[in-house]
Amino acid sequence: MEEYYEPICVEVNGVEHQRLVRTSMTLLDFIREELKLKGTKRGCDNGECGACTVLMDGECVYSCHVLAVQANGAKITTIEGIAGSDELSPIQEALMDEGAIQCGFCTPGLVMSIKRLLNEYPDPTDSQISYALSGNICRCSGYVSVANAVKKAAAVLRGE
Ligand code: FES
Ligand code: FES
Repeated sequence: MEEYYEPICVEVNGVEHQRLVRTSMTLLDFIREELKLKGTKRGCDNGECGACTVLMDGECVYSCHVLAVQANGAKITTIEGIAGSDELSPIQEALMDEGAIQCGFCTPGLVMSIKRLLNEYPDPTDSQISYALSGNICRCSGYVSVANAVKKAAAVLRGE
């Protein structure tokens, strides 16, 4: 099958990247294979599990369900852009403190969804937390500890 290529320019974690990409390449493959940012995980590769969640212009997207060419001109934040180089973000700290990590495969995607939630709602309600986490499947840690971590991170980020 013939391959088609297009030039794209995408800002990822504050760094601009210009590349010629296959028009069939997903944003997930662009992030993992082209930019070698392996923190964003591939779970189902089918828009169901949320492991590949990143922020695109501030909104959560499943990067396995976005083409790299659709991200042309966009600002992307991945898990690598969440904290400083030698520190964790309050969201990551809270997930660890609350025991909300077991295998951790879902965690990068969860962190991105929590980040998006707290950007809009610094003091989220239980239903806002449930809704925000509804696109991220975690098979092993359960959601109670994750929800507790969201509340804890929110309090830290509010300066409490
Ligand atoms: S890997 Fe993208 S939603 Fe599962
Ligand atoms: S900690 Fe294993 S899937 Fe969430």
